[in-house]
Amino acid sequence: MERPRPLCATAVASIVMGLLLVVVAGCADAREPIPMPTASAPSASATSTPSPTPTPTPTPTFDATRLSIDDPASLWVVVNKLRPLNPTDYAPSDIVRVPVPYANEPFLRQEAADAVVALFAAAEAEAGLRLQAQSAYRSFAVQVRVYNGIVASRGQEYANVRSARPGHSEHQTGLAIDISSIPSVCALDPCFGDTEHGRWLAANAHRFGFHLRYQPGMTGITGYSYEPWHFRYVGVELATELHETGVRSLEEFFGLPAAPTYAE
Ligand code: DAL
Ligand code: ZN
Repeated sequence: MERPRPLCATAVASIVMGLLLVVVAGCADAREPIPMPTASAPSASATSTPSPTPTPTPTPTFDATRLSIDDPASLWVVVNKLRPLNPTDYAPSDIVRVPVPYANEPFLRQEAADAVVALFAAAEAEAGLRLQAQSAYRSFAVQVRVYNGIVASRGQEYANVRSARPGHSEHQTGLAIDISSIPSVCALDPCFGDTEHGRWLAANAHRFGFHLRYQPGMTGITGYSYEPWHFRYVGVELATELHETGVRSLEEFFGLPAAPTYAE
């Protein structure tokens, strides 16, 4: 199915008396872009004119319609509280065991599994950091147990921003993995983002096709609190595009509605 590009930008440059003037104008298509969270603007001084905070946008040449975002078997499928898997009990057909160290034995789709092996090897070779799989593929039935367990132990409000309802989890696609360190420090805790392992992953995972899916301050868009351990395989092309443009969620990239809560 043809999808319109979610966002586009054109640049016009002209040189006037030795000065370069660059005008960048954004244009929207049929999809209504959702508001982008912005970093705090620099404070204005007496001598400078405040400039608007730049809004990250996909590069104009990137084909955001190349793969389906609806097909549960697509590497670009977008799953969130408003976009359950269809069917909700979807199970991938090419799940394999991932041959890496683990806290819980990991399984993923073949392409994502190969990428995890390469990612973990690079972390060790380039930075001397050892990683392990904390949680990878979770079937609908396993997600029922995980979600109900968190509701029982921490309550519904906490569970809502930490764990997806069955049929709404990226883990059910076989393309998501929770990663922790060896030795294990801050596993499944936001403080993992401040560890050497967490920082290396945030800076390098895109080279292997992984997107840091639940970034800080994005609960109003992704529906979940900061998870510096949760990486979603989308392929090197899209992961690199997201990393280099600074677009922090798949919802924003594809011009989808924010998904802070379930529809019902
Ligand atoms: N922790 C993520 C949101 C999941 O349960 O899929
Ligand atoms: Zn996860």
